[in-house]
Amino acid sequence: MALLEVKDLDVRFAVRGGDLKALRRISFSLDKGERLGLVGESGAGKSVAAFSILNLIAKPGYIAGGQILFEGRDLAAMSERELRRIRGNRIAMIFQDPMMTLNPVLTIGTQMVEAIQAHRKISRRQAREIALDRLRKVQIPSPEKRLDQYPHELSGGMRQRVIIAIALLLDPDIIIADEPTTALDVTIQAEIMALLLELCERENVALMLITHDLGVVSQVTQRMLVMYSGRIIEQGPTREIINDAQHPYTQGLINALPQMGEPGGAIVPDPRLHAVAEERALGVPLPPPLPLRQRAVPAVDAGLCPFRQRGRGLLRSEQPD
Ligand SMILES: Nc1ncnc2c1ncn2[C@@H]1O[C@H](COP(=O)(O)OP(=O)(O)O)[C@@H](O)[C@H]1O
Ligand SMILES: [Mg+2]
Repeated sequence: MALLEVKDLDVRFAVRGGDLKALRRISFSLDKGERLGLVGESGAGKSVAAFSILNLIAKPGYIAGGQILFEGRDLAAMSERELRRIRGNRIAMIFQDPMMTLNPVLTIGTQMVEAIQAHRKISRRQAREIALDRLRKVQIPSPEKRLDQYPHELSGGMRQRVIIAIALLLDPDIIIADEPTTALDVTIQAEIMALLLELCERENVALMLITHDLGVVSQVTQRMLVMYSGRIIEQGPTREIINDAQHPYTQGLINALPQMGEPGGAIVPDPRLHAVAEERALGVPLPPPLPLRQRAVPAVDAGLCPFRQRGRGLLRSEQPD
């Protein structure tokens, strides 16, 4: 049984003039310790997919159908109380903006301790020890000092490390990271991504990584989903898709990538992407989604993952009940 299995998930936003279909019956699974990439252009439904998994879609959005099976139990059908036991505990989330997780008026230590105590009956002192341990894990300089600082006293990169430390607080099974490094400087981005990868590998945490960066997806994930307009149009082993994409939309995304090993290579727009955009503007339907890939993958040059040399990650805490 997969750790997480999303089946025919249908999410809509009730807007004037009718329902806007944000997720059109998407299905995918995530195994224990697996790293899954989710790519697609802005508005494709990636964040909605991430939020839906934790049943965090707020009005006017709603889950109109489908199942989100976590260890076989349907999160879409759980009570808020049951969900709170899972969020931030078994499944953690990391957002692009650390301030979506951090409270500006509380110290890092207070927030971490509260997040732990919301889920575990332990003393403040024990919780502080766990917080300190996680800050060490994310290789933050002077971790003791950080506990007594406020979020605004830290740099963007350090804040995102704190977010990863919070994500790891309760030893989650899954981390969902939605564009976790987009807000950071390019050099810091690679460091944070490397840390996230290293920690997920070491702690055997499954990662669902949402990013617009196919380079990152190819280096970090084992399987990937390509979303377009609320649908998963292609999914399979990352290496196979990167090397031999079947869907024209995916082919366009890949061809828009800078050449491997070309530092800072400019992203050249691929004419096929324009064609796809134009077709959409004209209301021409895209070719239908492809069936799940099952065939064997030709061996592809593995290359060295530049992220593996260094390392860094993120998540969302809960207020105590
Ligand atoms: N609060 C909202 N109200 C109405 N529609 C929304 C809302 N949030 C998202 N959507 C719809 O869902 C689609 C997918 O959004 P999102 O998942 O944020 O895209 P992305 O792939 O960029 O993360 C959007 O194009 C929009 O139509
Ligand atoms: Mg998004």
